[in-house]
Amino acid sequence: MPHVAVINGSLRQASLNGRLARALAKLAAPRLTLTPLRIDDLPLFNQDMENDLPAPVSRLKREIAAADAVLFITPEHNRSMSAAMKNVIDWGTRPYGTSVWLDKPGATIGTSQGAVGTAAAQTHLRSVLASLGVALMGRPEAYIVFKENLMDETGHVTDEALAKVLTAYIDALAKWLVRVGVAQK
Ligand code: FNR
Repeated sequence: MPHVAVINGSLRQASLNGRLARALAKLAAPRLTLTPLRIDDLPLFNQDMENDLPAPVSRLKREIAAADAVLFITPEHNRSMSAAMKNVIDWGTRPYGTSVWLDKPGATIGTSQGAVGTAAAQTHLRSVLASLGVALMGRPEAYIVFKENLMDETGHVTDEALAKVLTAYIDALAKWLVRVGVAQK
């Protein structure tokens, strides 16, 4: 069963993107295993530290390297990805020549209450990931405009239309992992 590491770019306890991560994990099982990665203990990127990586950074890089794919779930902060998400991406590229992103299969998704549901954030995120050589799933795009009645804290999706959208997204991700050669039909 393919193992997908999940990075939620929100650090807050009651993260709406955390709910989305839990919803996707439930819908993906048992076809794909989605495992959240811890990112709240990473220091802010500082190139002075890159030749003696802080332990949380080494751990995260190992976890990403071991995963078949990475699902990037981003909030939208001021029309871009969160600083926490960019911090993970930057650490993952350093020191030069040790990037965990090159050829790593990946996909993006996110939710916010704003009218475009993280479209601006994901557009930035995808352009960064493409430049780093992530084998990025192009379609479907999934910009989830959050409403309180869509899903609960446990990730139980209470809205039928959203359940269909997220199921189609997981189906496409499973197919993408076959296409890029990390999963079998
Ligand atoms: C936001 N929010 C936001 N929403 C949006 O749709 N577009 C945006 O540009 C912004 N900008 C923004 C900046 C900052 C600094 C904050 C804190 C918030 C609202 C944001 O989508 C909302 O707080 C979500 O709940 C964030 O996701 P998590 O943290 O709940 O996962």
